[in-house]
Amino acid sequence: MSAFDDYVASFGDEPGYLNWAAFGPLSPAVRAETALDADLLGGMRPSAHALVGERGVQAREAVADLLGARTDEVTLQPSSTHGLMQALFGLSGTVIAATGEFPSISLTLDRAAHASRGALVARWVTPDEGQVTPDAVVAALDDDVTALAVSHVDFRTGYRADLGALRDVLGPDRLLIVDAVQSFGVVDDDYAAADVVVGHGYKWLRAGRGTGFARFSDRARERIVPVLSGITGTAADGVYADERPAPASDARAFTVSAPDPIAAGRLEVAVREVQDAGVAAIQERIADRVGEIIRIADRHGIRVASPRGSAWRAGIVSLLPVEPGHLAAELVNAGVAVTARGHAVRVSAHAGTDDETLRMLDDAIAAFRNETFTIG
Ligand SMILES: Cc1ncc(COP(=O)(O)O)c(C=O)c1O
Repeated sequence: MSAFDDYVASFGDEPGYLNWAAFGPLSPAVRAETALDADLLGGMRPSAHALVGERGVQAREAVADLLGARTDEVTLQPSSTHGLMQALFGLSGTVIAATGEFPSISLTLDRAAHASRGALVARWVTPDEGQVTPDAVVAALDDDVTALAVSHVDFRTGYRADLGALRDVLGPDRLLIVDAVQSFGVVDDDYAAADVVVGHGYKWLRAGRGTGFARFSDRARERIVPVLSGITGTAADGVYADERPAPASDARAFTVSAPDPIAAGRLEVAVREVQDAGVAAIQERIADRVGEIIRIADRHGIRVASPRGSAWRAGIVSLLPVEPGHLAAELVNAGVAVTARGHAVRVSAHAGTDDETLRMLDDAIAAFRNETFTIG
């Protein structure tokens, strides 16, 4: 079997899971690593504790490899929102963001602007269909703008932003801050186009919570003040007292305290798994599965709010049925896990999504259509 086949096989054969955009059930390798590290930390050998203590650096190395960045640019964070806080609370000037962004961007920017007492201003945009296109950014640009904060893949519609094109319209002097929660590990893109990239391991990477990370480029570190810099954010080696060392010159400055080594171990193993399988191959398989979901929706006359071109989407399909609550109930009854929110039902597929899962979706939608038709 190829590494990619091994990766697909690691998803197991329990069908019905189409909720990867909310939570990714832990991979077998991640579970094994957790047990191993917990055992090592449960013993009395300092060398074993030190071994697990290395997981932090190993995780940063793995994330850096996948991002095409240097290890000293990458930090571990308790969550991706912590990473965005590190970036946005240290910025000044005007930052563009879409009103419909996941609150990790919108709320954090709002809070950072309030805390800044006028030094940071949010410029909200509400682009058509929530899509942060280069044109939507150009329309909001002026000399005051210092950064754009944007999701690589929109959590509701699944729209995938074009990082290279956004970089081009921003030019070399403004920061591109990217929330890659819905793309890292499953979308092969030029992450180096961004100055700050945040993500986590508990959805598409199957690594569980506590696995946030953030990368800060040289340009980002020149422009962002490390205001939330803590005891691990200094250039000092080891423990210090009777002094208050300056923030480190590398990305460490954007950390507060030491990471959880078990979470770091989970992240490292999960990142290496996708690296071995190949992100491009994973992306291709997901595109195929998502294409099938769109075909199922079309066949049953359910409106699809997500982009249809595979270049503009990743693993998320947003369905807009006439009676969303009714469809959501039908899916629950059929054992199909999705996210139902407001008028939309969000379906998300991974590389391990099998034909049986898609058949269950198809059958549940067919039953929903029959009932709606009969009742209506
Ligand atoms: C786009 C996006 N950003 C951020 C988050 C929150 O991430 P975290 O829990 O790591 O702060 C989510 C969670 O669903 C998300 O979809």
